[in-house]
Amino acid sequence: MTSPKEHMFEALSLAKKGLLTTRPNPMVGCVITLDNKIIGRGWHKKSGEGHAEVNAIQDVFDNFGSNAPSALERSEMYVTLEPCSTTGKTPPCSEAIKKNKIKKVYIASGDSSQNGFTENEKDIEIIEGLLEEEARELNRGFFSRIEKNRPFITAKMATGLDGGIALASGESKWITSSISREDVHKLRATNEAILTGTGTILKDDPSLTSRDSGYDNDEIKQPLIVVIDRSNKLTGNEKIFTQGSKTLTFTSEDSFISSSRNELCVMKKEDLSNLNKMMQYLANEKSINTLLVESGSNIFDSLLAEELIDELILYQAPKLLGKDRHTFSKFNQTSQKLSTIDFKISSISNLGEDRKVTLIPNYK
Ligand SMILES: NC(=O)c1ccc[n+]([C@@H]2O[C@H](COP(=O)([O-])OP(=O)(O)OC[C@H]3O[C@@H](n4cnc5c(N)ncnc54)[C@H](OP(=O)(O)O)[C@@H]3O)[C@@H](O)[C@H]2O)c1
Repeated sequence: MTSPKEHMFEALSLAKKGLLTTRPNPMVGCVITLDNKIIGRGWHKKSGEGHAEVNAIQDVFDNFGSNAPSALERSEMYVTLEPCSTTGKTPPCSEAIKKNKIKKVYIASGDSSQNGFTENEKDIEIIEGLLEEEARELNRGFFSRIEKNRPFITAKMATGLDGGIALASGESKWITSSISREDVHKLRATNEAILTGTGTILKDDPSLTSRDSGYDNDEIKQPLIVVIDRSNKLTGNEKIFTQGSKTLTFTSEDSFISSSRNELCVMKKEDLSNLNKMMQYLANEKSINTLLVESGSNIFDSLLAEELIDELILYQAPKLLGKDRHTFSKFNQTSQKLSTIDFKISSISNLGEDRKVTLIPNYK
């Protein structure tokens, strides 16, 4: 006999199909069962299109035809996120569940941006919290945006064994192998925006595209490239502005950048060092759920000091970058805040000759 957990795992795996397309909406999956057998499956593909619950109900109609209403009345629903109860681009799912007389709904995680399906639907048996941790992890960006008012922030660094991210000359391209670089392109594609600093742009002039990810097609929205240019060092001729990506630059009114695909976010000088404010802008004005940071140590350390890094991914090559290398972090030992951060390793894997280490900071 299939357990409720197994049905919810199936709903989670359906939700994952929306990884690259649902943004800024959350990924949601749903299965409907009758006598413990799945009779309908659905997932949310794209903002403005059907939600997982409605798609699963439709699947029951496709499978059962005129017998669908009586099957639905005796069915149970497993959905990875609390059904919406407000009208957005589509009608509320709570209405579709009531209309089809589904009596029991399992929900993995609540959604504080909604109107309280669990509190309001007294005639439906609701079991909330089944595989909640897995469901929150799946939509960690969405939850960060609606609960913390900022994206989930991942920093990525390509390093040598000695923590070097660039040679003394500033040269940092190709520290890691092509397998790692392909993985970075996938990481870019699965994030909604990429943040970098002027130090990196002026030294490396990177493209920051996800062209080698296999995810680079018309249906998939490419990440927004975000740069902080507080001292107006950029001209608009740098690669990020000329290769067709959408860019957003936090800068002052004296900016020199003129590029039709670039959006300027003009801020007061003092706000251009306020990383919290910029992260809130990305969440509130641009609906960015997930942000990947690809900068040097300056921006990285500033974000870390504000406790804004949620995850750090090191792609570590078996190389030494030398005595005068640039390192990925230059902690100021005298700063209490920086010297009290340690990390938990959440995973380690091998990528060709390199090692990929994922770490979670523990801000004490
Ligand atoms: N291996 C890797 O994974 C990797 C990745 C990226 C970069 N790198 C290397 O890193 C080196 C560049 O390092 P970097 O530290 O100079 O670059 P960065 O962090 O990308 O940019 C630093 C610049 O950002 C601005 N900045 C610093 N703190 C800020 C804050 N709190 N708010 C807003 N802006 C802030 C400052 O410029 P203003 O004062 O002018 O505003 C600063 O000079 C290069 O050699 C590059 O090759 C390596």
